[in-house]
Amino acid sequence: MKLKKYIKDINANGFVILDISDFNNELSKSGLLVKKMFQEAINDSKNTSKFEHFTSRPERGSLDLDILPQVESSVKEIIKNSIVAEFAFEYWKTNKLMYSKDFSKFRYVNPNNPEQLKYADLHYDAQFLAGKSINVCIPFTGYGGPYPGLEIYKKSKIVKLIRNTFNESYAKKYLQLFVKKSEPFVEVGKCICFTQDVYHKRSVENKTMTRINLEFRILPGNNIEFQGNKAEL
Ligand SMILES: [Fe+2]
Repeated sequence: MKLKKYIKDINANGFVILDISDFNNELSKSGLLVKKMFQEAINDSKNTSKFEHFTSRPERGSLDLDILPQVESSVKEIIKNSIVAEFAFEYWKTNKLMYSKDFSKFRYVNPNNPEQLKYADLHYDAQFLAGKSINVCIPFTGYGGPYPGLEIYKKSKIVKLIRNTFNESYAKKYLQLFVKKSEPFVEVGKCICFTQDVYHKRSVENKTMTRINLEFRILPGNNIEFQGNKAEL
């Protein structure tokens, strides 16, 4: 029954927040490893290739999933054994799930770093990602409230129509003027999920705390359009 409500939620609001607090122990272990890895990357004065992604593009604040294989496999198990997989099976009506290895990233968003305030302007992920996907955003600190979060817009058929008839910039203008948005608070033990067609942006105003998280992208098993490196969930 809960699943039906979650599907209604994601269709109505553009996102759904799911509870994974049964795995809080695993999450806090992973969180410590991720924080340590970012600390190493920040202190990396030699610009080692291991942290290339992080040091060369400070505005993104990201590290690849495979930099921490133990966290990758722990999160994979959490997703697989939690409401998140149940939800995805039902949402896509599929019996097989995959996850993206190269489009899943660890993130470090420090609101006091001006470089990071410029990144992730309003967009939807299908602009750079073919096929169906759900971005499962898992906080190790938090999203929203004092942490940089996500501004998420409701799905809108009119916006799609404007985009197809005119162009992207008209669609965005309409969206920003007339479509409801929200900036949910997501604490550790929960995750926020949204699909590839939902407009969102990083929220950075009036933030004081650093957000550390994992963006873990899951895909339906039959997703042939997806070109990236993927593995079975
Ligand atoms: Fe995005």
